[in-house]
Amino acid sequence: MSKKASIGVTGLAVMGRNLARNLARHGHTVALHNRSEARTRELVEQFGHEGEFIPTYSAQEFVDALDRPRQIVIMVKAGAPTDAVIDEFAPLLEKGDVIVDAGNAHFADTRRREAALREQGLHFVGTGVSGGEEGALHGPSIMPGGSVESYQSLGPLFEDISAKVDGVPCCTHIGPDGAGHFVKMVHNGIEYADMQLIAESFDLLRGALGYEPARIAEVFKTWNTGRLDSYLIEITAEVLKHTDAATGKPFVDIVTDQAEQKGTGRWTVQIGLDLGVPISGIAEAVFARSLSGSADLRKASRGLPGPARKALSGAEAESFADDVERALYASKIVAYAQGFNQIQAGGAEYGWDIDLGAVAKIWRGGCIIRAKFLDDVTAAFAAEPKLPTLLTSGDFRKAVEDAQDSWRSVVATAVKLGIPTPGFSTALAYYDALRAERLPAALVQGQRDFFGAHTYRRVDREGSFHTEWATDERAEHSA
Ligand code: 6PG
Repeated sequence: MSKKASIGVTGLAVMGRNLARNLARHGHTVALHNRSEARTRELVEQFGHEGEFIPTYSAQEFVDALDRPRQIVIMVKAGAPTDAVIDEFAPLLEKGDVIVDAGNAHFADTRRREAALREQGLHFVGTGVSGGEEGALHGPSIMPGGSVESYQSLGPLFEDISAKVDGVPCCTHIGPDGAGHFVKMVHNGIEYADMQLIAESFDLLRGALGYEPARIAEVFKTWNTGRLDSYLIEITAEVLKHTDAATGKPFVDIVTDQAEQKGTGRWTVQIGLDLGVPISGIAEAVFARSLSGSADLRKASRGLPGPARKALSGAEAESFADDVERALYASKIVAYAQGFNQIQAGGAEYGWDIDLGAVAKIWRGGCIIRAKFLDDVTAAFAAEPKLPTLLTSGDFRKAVEDAQDSWRSVVATAVKLGIPTPGFSTALAYYDALRAERLPAALVQGQRDFFGAHTYRRVDREGSFHTEWATDERAEHSA
């Protein structure tokens, strides 16, 4: 009886190839399949020495190469290509077998697919895999959803190949059906917010202090030795240090200033709007990317009146970089607090009992937002699993308190100098709104009742009310 594989990977572009290699390097026998045979052959030729691969050249051969329960990992483009692969393999599988979608699928698609395949007795697992191509090879953060039963066979494999922090795998069962892809989506939303805040910090140090990219790289390198220690800060220092070979200019200055997006951040905002979760940090990051890409609008708006950027001087300049660090950290806490609130809201909406501390724990390594900061987030949720917001957790509350003057000064300086900081500003506005005793939403309710008779509630009585605005008496009555 020829040796069977404990798992198979179909879709051998770089992510799929690296995931297969990672599995083989950890001693698992891996069946391989790809639409074009060449990629399968190339993988075995180049990396066959890394472990046990079983190359296959048809769907049936691929399925036959797998031990029961068969576990097939799909690594193809999200959307129709994923559906096509599922349709190709599902008829060949038997009750209890597992299909894993490790791409960045929309969680609603995952819920649909999971329900449909469950009808056929198959397990469908949508899993987030974060860390890019390097992460897939050396240890990603893995966020599987799907049934508890599927995790019994799949979990040990994924935990084996995931990143480890303090010996703990950056992989855990997130929750049923689409929970894994939902959490990956929010991870990407937080990633957008984090990247936007870093980009604004760069713009502030350059615009308000006149620092060149190489010097700003040194600032980020220093920040990376402290509480902002993270993959994104680390790579930012590398990007800003880089000089373009062709021109000798700072790399960042020869890059077109229009940020693109594959869409996961946008999904996060769309779902946040549907769930009524004010994820303003993620939304502003998505809007900032869209604005940057609005070339014609920006060109038409060039020269609109406003302050010219001029470097700070004297005492203001002295403390500004430190002020930016504190403002960045405070704004980052807000962005993550909003992201975790969205996961809470998603769990409540879809009936997933997601352990936020467990999510933070597997984000400590492997993924794009991996950071020392996530140790503290993990600890915050461990101390208070039902924490309403990270902002009220001891350490974060203290950090935000200490950042108050700097945060407000940085936002004020940005406004005075005409440096756009939507991330910093929305984080501060969210923070102030959250802690406000009264919000102007009361006036909005009055306006809505005036023009649309949409009614309002009172602070001193139960029930809904409407005022007869069109009459002189403007009598109020219960609605
Ligand atoms: C990850 C990344 C990845 C992301 C790409 C493109 O977790 O490894 O988040 O999944 O899709 O980096 O992201 P954009 O949306 O910025 O194109």
